[in-house]
Amino acid sequence: MYQPAITGTGVFTPENVITNDELVASFNAHADLFNAENAEAIAAGKIEAKPHSSSEFIFNASGIEQRYVMDKEGTLDPARMYPHLHQRSDDEPGMMAEIALDACHKALDAAGVDASEIDLVICAASNMERAYPAVGIEIQKLLGAGGFAFDMNVACSSATFGIQAAADMIRSGSVRKALVVNPEITSGHLEWRDRDCHFIFGDVCTATVLEQAEDATDEKWLVRSIRCATEFSNNIRNNNGFLRRNRPDGVADRRDMQFMQNGRKVFKEVVPMVSAHILAHIGEEGIAPDALKRMWLHQANKTMNDFIGRKVLGRVPETDEQPNILQDYANTSSAGSIIAFAKHSGGMEKGDIGLICSFGAGYSVGSVILEKA
Ligand code: COA
Repeated sequence: MYQPAITGTGVFTPENVITNDELVASFNAHADLFNAENAEAIAAGKIEAKPHSSSEFIFNASGIEQRYVMDKEGTLDPARMYPHLHQRSDDEPGMMAEIALDACHKALDAAGVDASEIDLVICAASNMERAYPAVGIEIQKLLGAGGFAFDMNVACSSATFGIQAAADMIRSGSVRKALVVNPEITSGHLEWRDRDCHFIFGDVCTATVLEQAEDATDEKWLVRSIRCATEFSNNIRNNNGFLRRNRPDGVADRRDMQFMQNGRKVFKEVVPMVSAHILAHIGEEGIAPDALKRMWLHQANKTMNDFIGRKVLGRVPETDEQPNILQDYANTSSAGSIIAFAKHSGGMEKGDIGLICSFGAGYSVGSVILEKA
């Protein structure tokens, strides 16, 4: 058995920022357009008028202040309300592969590893650009990596579940060096016209290099142990799939082909599930809560993270013990906890213990206990 270690991370951040105020101005203009176009039906009580969104609500309910997106213009156009994401020809690199390359090269540089040394690429994300060939295999080719690659999707938990798969293969010796990459183009599967969720997501890509610890030349994080758990729920769901063309109701623009959630229920059900999961995991490893120097949690909602941190530590965590990045990036699905880890893992000493934890649709929760080495 070999000891797996995380030796590098990389983050690709799109150039375009949308602030809450910009987002709300565009949404409200869209709502006004909708209400004017449907004035008769609204007056007759056949459909409901679209209410305005508000920056104060967004910040108070979620902690989000802005998000990065691949395309700002189409997303903010009140007559369009979705990004211009041009579908690539079969001869061009796909959009996910393109942003993955940037994050992977940053992670490889941080690890001091050449792409040719990688023998496993896992592309783990919430929504894939296509069914096959696997995006991971395209990334493997563009990087010049060896071995094999595949895609996996466990929604917001994709990164930690991917790390588990890679770490287990390294542990067994079937691979030496792996890249887990999370290209999250969430703007493509968010319904920007729905006030309840239009503020939630942002685009990003993260990458993590894992190696056998003995190979690592520089700073590393030993993967002490990983726990993944799932429990079926419909409260976060996206029905887009191979049944897309079979629309039994004949409606061309089905809302359920995008991200859907019952946010209140998710909040109430997931918070206790995650805090119990983390406490059980560290308990099994003989780690007391106050020995956790840092928690890099999934980034969906600040209040949710505050609850989880309080429950696990038994007190209000200091900001640097449980860093949030969602104020800048919004919810970036599986990438959120990895952005937090990549940007806020400095200042820890050899032997210090930290925990990455993702959670979301499925429901799913994945926790990774790391030791600084
Ligand atoms: N602007 C203004 N008001 C809004 C609004 C907006 N953009 N969106 C919703 N509201 C209104 C609602 O209509 C509701 O009005 P009502 O009380 O008259 O019915 C009120 O604000 C409260 O809405 P609610 O949906 O209950 O808000 P919330 O406090 O639960 O916050 C979320 C919403 C989504 C931020 C929160 O539930 C959450 O983060 N849940 C967990 C999400 C999660 O982790 N999902 C995983 C995704 S991968």
